[in-house]
Amino acid sequence: MGAGDHVLDVATGTAAIARMLVRRRACRVTGLDQSPEMLAAGRARVRAEGMEGRIVLVQGEAERLPFPDAAFDGVTVSYLLRYVEDPEATMAELVRVLRPGGTLASLEFGVPPWPPARLAWRAYTAAGLPALGLLAGGPAWARTGRFLHRSIPAFHHRWPPGRLIGLYADAGLADLRARRLSLGGGLVIWGRRT
Ligand SMILES: C[S@@+](CC[C@H](N)C(=O)[O-])C[C@H]1O[C@@H](n2cnc3c(N)ncnc32)[C@H](O)[C@@H]1O
Repeated sequence: MGAGDHVLDVATGTAAIARMLVRRRACRVTGLDQSPEMLAAGRARVRAEGMEGRIVLVQGEAERLPFPDAAFDGVTVSYLLRYVEDPEATMAELVRVLRPGGTLASLEFGVPPWPPARLAWRAYTAAGLPALGLLAGGPAWARTGRFLHRSIPAFHHRWPPGRLIGLYADAGLADLRARRLSLGGGLVIWGRRT
């Protein structure tokens, strides 16, 4: 993804990835999210960084993107697939709006494969994350921490990295690459639409 490319950031939340794409790659970005609250917070941050001319935020569902086929040079998506009922259909929808030759890049939480790291990760998500959440944002953030402790391993169990990469290939992406982050606590996958 390079200067002038039009990128769609799906499940954009507060537009963190969208703003990073503008800063680092000089892209134009459309960010889509289902939550009006997240989009309102995102718009405030986009305004604060003077990026209104480069980023447009729209409300919508990843499963039914309100864009024509092949409308974008690139698609980014982070931390979405755990939330959708049908990851295969959602991934096909993301690829539909990507032009042939364009890149899709995704980021998901993972579970570290190395046993000592996995043990430390379990302890962190079971106790550390809810405690930090409570300190930083109160009971709602502590609940989010506890939710992540259950939801990340459940998703990882259903969609281990190998199966996830197969899902991307089945959706029509080629030259697929993957990189573990933080000993496997994060997984980046990217590929090109055939
Ligand atoms: C954990 S946040 C990640 C936000 C952002 N991608 C980031 O990395 O900062 C997940 C976001 O996905 C959005 N989301 C969940 N399901 C969605 C769906 N089906 N369609 C669009 N957005 C969705 C939520 O509203 C939330 O903003």
